[in-house]
Amino acid sequence: MQNQIEYSRTQIALHWAIVVLLLGQYLLHGGIEAAWAARMEGSIPNEPFPNPHTIVGLIIFVLALWRVGLRVRHGAPALPEKEPAGLKLVAKAVHLAFYALLIGMPISGAVAWVAGIAVPADVHGVAAKILLGLIALHVVGAITQKIWFKTDVLIRMSPKRMWMKGGAR
Ligand code: HEM
Ligand code: HEM
Repeated sequence: MQNQIEYSRTQIALHWAIVVLLLGQYLLHGGIEAAWAARMEGSIPNEPFPNPHTIVGLIIFVLALWRVGLRVRHGAPALPEKEPAGLKLVAKAVHLAFYALLIGMPISGAVAWVAGIAVPADVHGVAAKILLGLIALHVVGAITQKIWFKTDVLIRMSPKRMWMKGGAR
């Protein structure tokens, strides 16, 4: 029964590990942008080289694939009954878009970086803005669950549940 499923420890750990890594990608993208601009202007050879942004991005890619695998195999708790159907649909669409972006962004970034071509880099830049918008929506949704609908949605993804007795398994 869908209602009895809880997020596992690994699902919770992966959720928050990806949040931290994404924060890094957004706060520290100056280096990759400068390197990319230099390659496109021809002031450095148009060749890929290891860079913290690309390495962390590829780690996010692997963690996101792991997460999708767990989501398919383990499932996820059902959305709260008192949540209106329209909002449930938005939540599900946002979650699906997250998985698509967490996999699609590293691919577009890697294609641009390895092949040295602009179109996938432009797609990557647009996707970065969309992801940021969805994160804002997701956080507002999570807070609304807590304050307005008074559900346990925030608690079930809480890192504390990984250590609590009788918490996530
Ligand atoms: C989910 C993982 C990733 C996130 C969230 C992310 C995020 C970002 C952000 C926010 C920017 C700045 C975009 C802008 O302001 O226009 C950027 C630029 C860039 N990223 Fe990523 N990135 C990720 C993975 C990767 C990977 C794996 C690679 C390559 C292997 C990569 C290659 C690039 C390149 C080449 C740029 C410069 C492109 C440009 O300035 O238009 N990214 N990324
Ligand atoms: C920053 C990037 C974030 C991404 C990419 C992200 C992604 C996701 C995804 C894909 C799910 C759905 C899990 C599933 O059912 O498969 C989820 C659930 C959840 N997220 Fe996030 N999240 C982020 C940040 C946050 C933050 C900052 C909060 C806290 C305010 C948060 C709170 C939650 C909660 C409470 C759930 C559980 C929802 C439920 O049980 O229905 N997330 N997140």
